[in-house]
Amino acid sequence: MLMNLIKVSKIYRIGHVEVLALNEVSVGIDRGEFVAIVGPSGSGKTTLLDILGCLSRPTSGDYWFDGKLVSRLPDDELTYIRNRKIGFVFQTFQLLPRKTVLENVQLPMLYAGVPWKAQRHRALQLLRDVGLEDRAHHLPTQLSGGQQQRVAIARALANTPDVILADEPTGNLDSRSGQDILGLFQRLHESGQTLVMITHDQQIAEQAQRRVMIADGRIVADDRASQQAPVPV
Ligand SMILES: Nc1ncnc2c1ncn2[C@@H]1O[C@H](COP(=O)(O)OP(=O)(O)OP(=O)(O)O)[C@@H](O)[C@H]1O
Ligand SMILES: [Mg+2]
Repeated sequence: MLMNLIKVSKIYRIGHVEVLALNEVSVGIDRGEFVAIVGPSGSGKTTLLDILGCLSRPTSGDYWFDGKLVSRLPDDELTYIRNRKIGFVFQTFQLLPRKTVLENVQLPMLYAGVPWKAQRHRALQLLRDVGLEDRAHHLPTQLSGGQQQRVAIARALANTPDVILADEPTGNLDSRSGQDILGLFQRLHESGQTLVMITHDQQIAEQAQRRVMIADGRIVADDRASQQAPVPV
């Protein structure tokens, strides 16, 4: 199992107010799965994705990633895992506006210490894969939203992560561009990439392989069982 949460709770404290954002969530995600996380606003989806991505720690409970108990690792090791093993995609793309498309895709490799020529070579290949090679020297603002999100996905793939985590990746896109992004995710899934995606959009969620539904900080539905291939007799 690539990611395994065991009775994970997350409490946010602001002054005297406590918010129980996740309430003893246990869930496992295998390599190669394409999972959609769905649920109402404020139910804890982003909180869950942040923990999966080692952006924040559980208040209690354990999180195992790739055989490591990351909930107990020091910050520098979490940073390393985030950079090398996890690719992030956000609703608002989060590209650096003063860097070219190519430089944006190179950035995670720069942080990882990849030699410059290899960075360039891989970034161009990734841009080719997402159909944007001809935009390599443009600035992000010169691209459409759907194109910017494809650049963000190329960037997320730069260090060949174990998993892509996406928080509402189609939330700022028209339905046509959203569908293009879903098509790209499905292609990645078919090539073996593990993907976890939050979405409000029922039609988008239906195209994932598995849906995990959250309400009030708890998992209330998970159709994993029905997705498993029947055991041959
Ligand atoms: N940094 C924070 N400090 C305090 N409370 C927070 C923080 N982040 C989230 N919360 C609270 O935790 C709960 C879960 O929030 P979360 O962002 O995970 O929800 P969500 O399911 O992603 O919602 P949405 O669909 O609106 O993005 C909410 O009640 C929210 O107000
Ligand atoms: Mg959210």
